[in-house]
Amino acid sequence: MPSTAVTVRVPATSANLGAGFDCLGLALDLFASITVKFGDTEQEPTNDVGEKMVLTAIRATYSRLDRTPPAGISASYGVSIPLGRGMGASAVARVAGALAANEFEGRPLSREECMAVAADLEGHGDNACPAMFGGVQVCVTDNGRYLHVPARFPADATIAILIPDHSMATKDARKVVPDSFSKEDAVHNVGRAALFVAALSAGRFDLLDAATDDRFHQRQRASLFPPLFDIFGVARAAGAHAAWLSGAGSCVAAFCSEESGRPVAAAMLQKLQESGMAGRTLVTRISRTGAEVARVELVED
Ligand code: HSE
Repeated sequence: MPSTAVTVRVPATSANLGAGFDCLGLALDLFASITVKFGDTEQEPTNDVGEKMVLTAIRATYSRLDRTPPAGISASYGVSIPLGRGMGASAVARVAGALAANEFEGRPLSREECMAVAADLEGHGDNACPAMFGGVQVCVTDNGRYLHVPARFPADATIAILIPDHSMATKDARKVVPDSFSKEDAVHNVGRAALFVAALSAGRFDLLDAATDDRFHQRQRASLFPPLFDIFGVARAAGAHAAWLSGAGSCVAAFCSEESGRPVAAAMLQKLQESGMAGRTLVTRISRTGAEVARVELVED
C-alpha cells in the first residue's frame, strides 16, 4: 500500500527579544523543510534529535485527537536549522510534526490547536507561535490557552545573526534563570517588553536598545557565554539598533537597518573570534510567513 509524504516548511525563530522572556518572538526568513512519511510499514527508530522531536509532536497530535497513529511514521529533513543555538529548531520540529499529522488526518485541528500542541511540548509559545504564524508575535499562556497577537514591524528591518559553533542546551540555560525576581526587576522587564512592541510599531528604533535591556535572563546566561555583552556592544557600535541573546542562546540577534546588517554581523563574528570561539553569521529579515504545508504526495514504500 502506498505511503503518504507530507512536507512542511517552517521558519526559524528568535525568542525573548531582550526583555520579553518567554513571551516575545519573531520568525526569520530562514526555513527548514521537513518531510513526514505515513505508512503501514514499521520504521527503524531514529537517533536524530530533530527527527525524534518531530515524531513526539506527531504522537502528541494523535493523542490530542484521540486517534491511533499509523504503524509506520518517519521524518526527514531537507533543510534544517542548527539545534541548541536559539534559532527555534525544536519549535520548528514540533510545529512540523503537528501540522504534518493534522494534514494526514484531514485537518481536524485548526492551526491554533496545532500551535498549542507544539507550544505545550516547548513549555512556552515564544518560538512556536512565530514559527506557526510568522512575523513578530506576543504570546502568553492563559489558563492552558495561548493568547497571541502579531506586532507591527518595519518591512526593511534586517536581522543579523551570529551563530557560534558551540551550542547552549535550553535546559541548562533555563537553570541559571532565577525562580523569582524583585519587584524592581519585574517592573523593569515588564515595561521594556511593552516598550519593545510599542517602539517597533511606531518606528522608534532609537528606543529599541533600552527596550532590550533585560534583568531576567541575559546577565545570568552570560555566565555560560562570557563574551555576550561585549558582542552586544560591538553590534551597537557597528550600527545595530539593538541586540539580544536569541532564545536560550547561543546565537546573538541584532536588529538593524538595511545597510547595517552586514557590518554588524562582521563585528559580532570578529568579537566572538577574539574571545577564542568560532562561528558564522547570516543576515536575514523578519518573515511575515509562518509554517506551511508545502506538499502532500503518495509515495511507494
Ligand atoms: N524563552 C525560552 C528561553 C526560549 O529563553 O528559555 C528557548 O526555548
